[in-house]
Amino acid sequence: MDLSVTIAGIRFPTCVMNASGARCVTYEELERLGQSRSGAIVTKSMTREPRQGNPEPRYFSFPGGSLNSMGLPNLGYPAYAHLIPALRRFKKPIVASIAGFQPEDFIEGVRYMNEAKPDLLEINLSCPNIPGKPQIGYDMEASERLLQMIKAHTELPFGVKLPPYFDPVHHEAMAQILGRVGVSFLTAINSIGNALVVDPDHESVVIKPKGGFGGLGGPIIKPVALANVRAFWKLLGDRMPIIGTGGIQTGIDVFEHLLCGATAVQVGTVLVEEDIRVFDRIETELREYLDRKGYRSAIACRGRLKEL
Ligand code: DHB
Repeated sequence: MDLSVTIAGIRFPTCVMNASGARCVTYEELERLGQSRSGAIVTKSMTREPRQGNPEPRYFSFPGGSLNSMGLPNLGYPAYAHLIPALRRFKKPIVASIAGFQPEDFIEGVRYMNEAKPDLLEINLSCPNIPGKPQIGYDMEASERLLQMIKAHTELPFGVKLPPYFDPVHHEAMAQILGRVGVSFLTAINSIGNALVVDPDHESVVIKPKGGFGGLGGPIIKPVALANVRAFWKLLGDRMPIIGTGGIQTGIDVFEHLLCGATAVQVGTVLVEEDIRVFDRIETELREYLDRKGYRSAIACRGRLKEL
């Protein structure tokens, strides 16, 4: 069973990797991803300055998923640029997730990465958790301007991490932008931003930042994630690899993302909950399920979702 995939000319040993944000902030965490069965090492979204992030509690787990408002705790561009070369020894792709508060930040981040040479950049257009800062991916013009600027400043292949869209008009507009800019892949979806979980016992919100509003992840968001993967696959097909993320807990969830059109997938909430052994479990489940279905590789089922 071949679970390897290629995105922008980079070979991933398996199609299941960590989502940015999940257990990937510190050097120790990135090293553990290197030692794990994760198909890549994806970094936490990085900013110009190191950040502590939002006040705690800022992550809440409940049966259907998770709510987070971490607030971009990370080591900053220079620190990641310094440690990326040491991660090469794990012989799997390194994906640097770049965030910023203004276009100039992203350019600075890209400059650092031009030196550090990760395999891919994932430009984060969708962080929902910074008070007063809207998600760039919901502003089509601002997204295109930013991506064109990034294109002009790097030779590294880069993709985008998108927020969930809920209307075909928005999938079409973003697909056109990605085609015009010529990005190398897209990752869909980031958490569903600004959701609210209520604790009825305490008559309270469950996380401190932003009055309790935060990004929703985990099983509860899988249908929204699948819809976004499918919508972009139908618009872009095999012209642009899609990394599906959202609601993956099992090998069968991975299979569903592949059927919708994903080339690879990322896991966030389940990685936070179960730690890096999750990669062994999901890989085994995926192998068994594909085998039972008669598929010889992960890529063989890509996009093959039947319509009625
Ligand atoms: C954070 C959350 C996100 O969904 C994201 O894309 C980037 C950062 C955070 O709160 O740290």
